[in-house]
Amino acid sequence: MSKLVLVLPVALFCLAAISAQQAPVVPPKVTPYADIPADAAKQQNPVKSSPDSIARGQKWFKLDCAMCHDENGDGKGDVAVSMKLTINDFTNPDTFKDHTDGELFYIIKNGHMPMPGEGDRIKTDQVWDIVNYVRSLAKPKAASN
Ligand code: HEC
Repeated sequence: MSKLVLVLPVALFCLAAISAQQAPVVPPKVTPYADIPADAAKQQNPVKSSPDSIARGQKWFKLDCAMCHDENGDGKGDVAVSMKLTINDFTNPDTFKDHTDGELFYIIKNGHMPMPGEGDRIKTDQVWDIVNYVRSLAKPKAASN
């Protein structure tokens, strides 16, 4: 009796471990949004998207982001290719369709492994400029759609 009490949980545990191993491998989804606090996501962008703001954002993007996201935002920068990173294409208008400026701000400010955050290196308004730039990369959908 006492033996069974010991053996049964072990057997069940092994069974669970085996079935877990056999589960199909699902590739990780590219979704840095799950951990963003609701307050941060709701934050309004105080910097109007203007040609000036976009030009300032583009400067930062070339310096700090293009090695992964590529200058045009397609996600095929040199570092991304050599690290085999999966990055969504910013030129696709669907990429940020369901996301707020606040969410983009949070990701750029805080990063998301393996993406480094800007942290305190740049000013708040400069992060908003980058948000405006990133949004400006989306190409309008083809007229046939
Ligand atoms: C080391 C490579 C790297 C650098 C540098 C980098 N990123 Fe990223 N970025 C990634 C990866 C990888 C992801 C998607 C994976 C993840 O975050 O889970 C990502 C995701 C994002 C997202 C969310 C994309 C989506 O699919 O919704 C935004 C916005 C973003 N990056 C902007 C920037 C900006 C702006 C900079 C520069 C300030 C930057 N990144 C610098 C690698 C990088």
